[in-house]
Amino acid sequence: MRIGEGYSAVAIINFGGQYAHLISRRLRELGVYTEIIHYYEASPEKIRKLGAGAVVLSGGPRSVLEPNAPRIGSWILELGVPVLGICYGHQLLALLIGGRVERGPGEYGRTWVRVLRPSDPLFRGWGSEEETWMSHGDYVAFVPDNAEVLAVSRDTGYIAAFRLRDRPIYGVQFHPEVAHTPKGRLLLDNFVSLVAKLQKNWKPENIVDELVREIRAKVPPGEKVLVAVSGGIDSTTTALLVKRAIGDRLVAVFVNHGLLREGEAEEVLSLLRSLGIEPVYIDASKVFLKRLRGIKDCEEKRKIIGKTFIEIFEDVARSDPSIKWLAQGTTYPDVIESGAVPGADRIKSHHNVGGLPERLGLKVLEPLRYFYKDEVRRIAISLGVPREYAYRHPFPGPGLAVRIIGEVTDEKLRIARRASRIVEEVLRKAGLYDRVWQAFAVVGDDKWVGVKGDSRVDGYIVTIRIVESEDGMTADWSRIPYEVLAEISWRISSEIPEVTMVTYAVTSKPPSTIEPC
Ligand code: XMP
Repeated sequence: MRIGEGYSAVAIINFGGQYAHLISRRLRELGVYTEIIHYYEASPEKIRKLGAGAVVLSGGPRSVLEPNAPRIGSWILELGVPVLGICYGHQLLALLIGGRVERGPGEYGRTWVRVLRPSDPLFRGWGSEEETWMSHGDYVAFVPDNAEVLAVSRDTGYIAAFRLRDRPIYGVQFHPEVAHTPKGRLLLDNFVSLVAKLQKNWKPENIVDELVREIRAKVPPGEKVLVAVSGGIDSTTTALLVKRAIGDRLVAVFVNHGLLREGEAEEVLSLLRSLGIEPVYIDASKVFLKRLRGIKDCEEKRKIIGKTFIEIFEDVARSDPSIKWLAQGTTYPDVIESGAVPGADRIKSHHNVGGLPERLGLKVLEPLRYFYKDEVRRIAISLGVPREYAYRHPFPGPGLAVRIIGEVTDEKLRIARRASRIVEEVLRKAGLYDRVWQAFAVVGDDKWVGVKGDSRVDGYIVTIRIVESEDGMTADWSRIPYEVLAEISWRISSEIPEVTMVTYAVTSKPPSTIEPC
């Protein structure tokens, strides 16, 4: 049995970029299982095998008018299931049905559309004019008689939505999956419920037994599974699933690299123990910090940390020959991304123990490879993880090393740790912690002259980074109320004597990144 079998499913054909994941997450939130298929691998057989009751064609960064534009064949029109093309997908469908796409000045950002066919089920609940979010250069200039125009852009008259008259094949130029299209979620729900008539029966926590059975079936008796637990929700959930599947043949290893948040090591250990997992705890902070001494470059720090992790795990794995497996908390975006754009620029090397299985000849288990973070959180809660823990902010594997610009020194580590704790405390008190994606303090080597008591002191500058995001791929700085910022600033500068200036980072990602390095 495959994951998702027995649930309503939608196939999403990915034409590149990040849009496919957002569509996929929105549909899963609505209660249908989704899988993303790259356009060059898409086929009627693949879609049938998934049991998909509908197909969505994603947006993408290319132009359908380019000679080698990503394409699929007109088989998509004959599949016999409803299809919704979004942006690039809308334009591609228009071409496939004999319409015309032209290069235009395009529409970017907030765009009003006029709905011409409010009776169509796709637009149930939409008013005659609605706000949408668009981002396109080319536009659909014409659709033939076998199609009906359902909506147009108010200001340009471009075709904003159409459908085939004789079957439920739709295109929309705007992006219903983004929050800036206020009725986008409703439109997707209409597509799933009214057009495709799918039952919304997908719940990630319902398939925990399935995941457990799968692990049990893969790992023969007598073989053990190593899980590197970091305290993060992905590795914790992975360990819990393995524990449930094979009991004491789980070897959970928690390495303290000395770059954790305040009180984190104790918190992680006590959580794991309360869930019946007794991890092998290795306090290697001295080794890590020693190796990081004098290292200023961030990627260099990541490399050193990754290498040291691997050495430690190698020792553990070699110490017990029955360890044959490594279970990793890889999630769906990692799986799709790694197959998506071969050779694409890697901005930061995020994989913390990459290369370990190959070196040790371990087989790999990835029980969370079909899930999004929010689904992992729900699975974790169903396995007994307290809600508050499951909703902790993501924390990078190399820890505070990537939140310290320049060399990691004891002093900067202490400042980053204390200041980050203050940021978290103030946000929790203001009821904002759960509303933001990540919130932390950064410290570098720049100084600011301050006055403490009667004397001038050269103090550190601490930068606060609080961002809102869906998945960490893009992010916006959070418009935190001034009073909350003021309290953070006041507490940091008064409770940490070495700090003389607190700043707030107000650049979104892109062009910036979330972590400072
Ligand atoms: P950036 O800084 O690239 O971060 O915008 C995006 C997300 O990834 C996290 N991050 C990391 N996670 N190892 C990790 O496990 C890393 O080296 C690393 N660097 C960044 C970051 O916290 C954010 O959620």
